[in-house]
Amino acid sequence: MSEAKPFAEKELALEFLRVVEAAAIAAARTMGKGDRTLSDHVAVEAMRMVLDTIPIRGTVVIGEGERDEAPMLYIGERVGLGYTRSGDVDGYPEVDIAVDPLEGTNLCATGAPNAITVLAAAEKGGLLFAPDTYMEKIIVGPGCADRLDLDAPVAENLKAIARSLDRDVEDLVIIVLDRPRHEQLIADIRRAGARIKLIGDGDLSAGISAAVAGTNVHAVMGIGGAPEGVLTAAALRCLNGHMLARLKPRHERDIERMEHMGIGDVHQIYTENDLAPGRNLIFAACGVTSGSLLDGVRFWGGGKRTHSLVMTYRWRHIRFVDTIHLDGGPDTRVRL
Ligand code: FBP
Repeated sequence: MSEAKPFAEKELALEFLRVVEAAAIAAARTMGKGDRTLSDHVAVEAMRMVLDTIPIRGTVVIGEGERDEAPMLYIGERVGLGYTRSGDVDGYPEVDIAVDPLEGTNLCATGAPNAITVLAAAEKGGLLFAPDTYMEKIIVGPGCADRLDLDAPVAENLKAIARSLDRDVEDLVIIVLDRPRHEQLIADIRRAGARIKLIGDGDLSAGISAAVAGTNVHAVMGIGGAPEGVLTAAALRCLNGHMLARLKPRHERDIERMEHMGIGDVHQIYTENDLAPGRNLIFAACGVTSGSLLDGVRFWGGGKRTHSLVMTYRWRHIRFVDTIHLDGGPDTRVRL
């Protein structure tokens, strides 16, 4: 039996780029059709298909749900060239994979901004097995992790964020998912004087924006999906951003699932390092509809153009990738 190759961030990053690009192209074809299930389905299929061309022995640790409820990209599914129908192929690196084939299904279905396709990968054990439940989060950029406290009053945390960014609380823009459960949080942020951007969906892309200067997003606060939280953590590790998070089970079944996954303490507070502890991490996302970080997919007679973000933790590479996928004839012209 030959030894498995080590996880090669540099080489695999561009392979995973192909995965998120394919999912984005498929989803973008359904933009505005008003059918979020269709948009998600085509993204899942495309992602699954390309994943099987990647030289890895991959295991989905965050995906479309449990095996009995998702036909593809379910938790525990094995993907990659290293797993063939006839058995394992030696020599390929073992990789844990977290996917959100379409983050913002509603955004895509309605043609709203910020729908993206997302994948994170790490060596075995490098991404937390998080149940498909809710997660309370504070997500910020570099420099103010030590000053935050998930249990502190909102105004205190806003002061800490403002101080770390050398500005007043009134200058901050905080992204919050527009949900009834956030009524109190929104009131507290308003009372403290910060500005709010309410979003319909997509706290993952919002979280990435909070870690990137120039986006005019300074933090994300509130309760969103736990799987999105793990993917956000992988991105933050690459961007030097930070988060504090705590699982918020919705009902008894969620608590049972958490126990089944080995999460004993429901009240545990996680940082980005706990959620995505990998020593090797790759994060890839591709725009489906245009947003604050990434352009959406554009189609024209000769092909399509995608805009992606691909990051590696150890190699410290942050790549914004503009790809032209030519599929026209020999006279097809490439435009700048
Ligand atoms: P989908 O991509 O599955 O539609 O989820 C989008 C999203 O808005 C996430 O960004 C967020 O974490 C989660 O849903 C919030 O869940 P809910 O819609 O139940 O409040």
